[in-house]
Amino acid sequence: MAQAVFSTPHSQGIRQIFTEITPYYDFLNGLLSLRLDRAWRRWAVERAVDGSERSILDLGTGTGKFLQAFLARGTFERACGVDLCESMLERARQSVRRPGVVWLAADVSKGIPCESASVDLVSAAFTLRSLRDHLPFFFSEVFRVLKPGGKAVFLELTRPARGILKWLYYPYLSIYLPLVGALVSRSFQAYSFLANSIRHFEEPSKVAEMLKQAGFASADCSSYTGGIATLIRAKKP
Ligand SMILES: C[S@@+](CC[C@H](N)C(=O)[O-])C[C@H]1O[C@@H](n2cnc3c(N)ncnc32)[C@H](O)[C@@H]1O
Repeated sequence: MAQAVFSTPHSQGIRQIFTEITPYYDFLNGLLSLRLDRAWRRWAVERAVDGSERSILDLGTGTGKFLQAFLARGTFERACGVDLCESMLERARQSVRRPGVVWLAADVSKGIPCESASVDLVSAAFTLRSLRDHLPFFFSEVFRVLKPGGKAVFLELTRPARGILKWLYYPYLSIYLPLVGALVSRSFQAYSFLANSIRHFEEPSKVAEMLKQAGFASADCSSYTGGIATLIRAKKP
């Protein structure tokens, strides 16, 4: 089965992939998603915050776009973006110039470098697919660092379940995404990994189930653009 032949690269492989594509990452995100990535982040922020949050930890922060969308809401006093790829973090440092924001290089599949019960909101956009083999441990770490009543929000690329989009999406994943990604970034390996990681990622309902198993009191999913992206929200009791 196709499932058996895809395995997520280890952290070193993930770091190499994102280091290679750093200069093209934001441009290609816009091109490959027809700029929907920005709308998805914005919609996710609107659903995630209620104005009471003071601290945020963005995991797999990349060039900082998701964290930036949260900071635009203006209710945060402390913010931290974590990523294992230094070149992505460097872009984030240059584009998000705001006091109170800290950038950390760390591999969150091995643990989140934060004190327990110290954060109001944990976020991650398009990061879970790289952590596919570590999700139960990763979710237990997210649970640990959240304050009681804290929230976690994960935005992820998923697969449309039905209709015309379902049929169009597979040629998009097999041909358009790896081809355009490779032509622009000159890294076929990187964009075929990204396409495969979407094809083989867990169903959102399964991810929600894993969050509940990690201790979260509730976990729900909202799909965007026919299921091409999904927001998964969870709340710590
Ligand atoms: C697809 S990008 C998403 C970037 C950003 N969140 C966004 O909204 O565009 C995934 C990011 O997760 C980071 N990442 C993947 N695995 C990681 C890990 N184990 N620890 C820390 N960062 C990781 C990658 O380096 C990359 O920057």
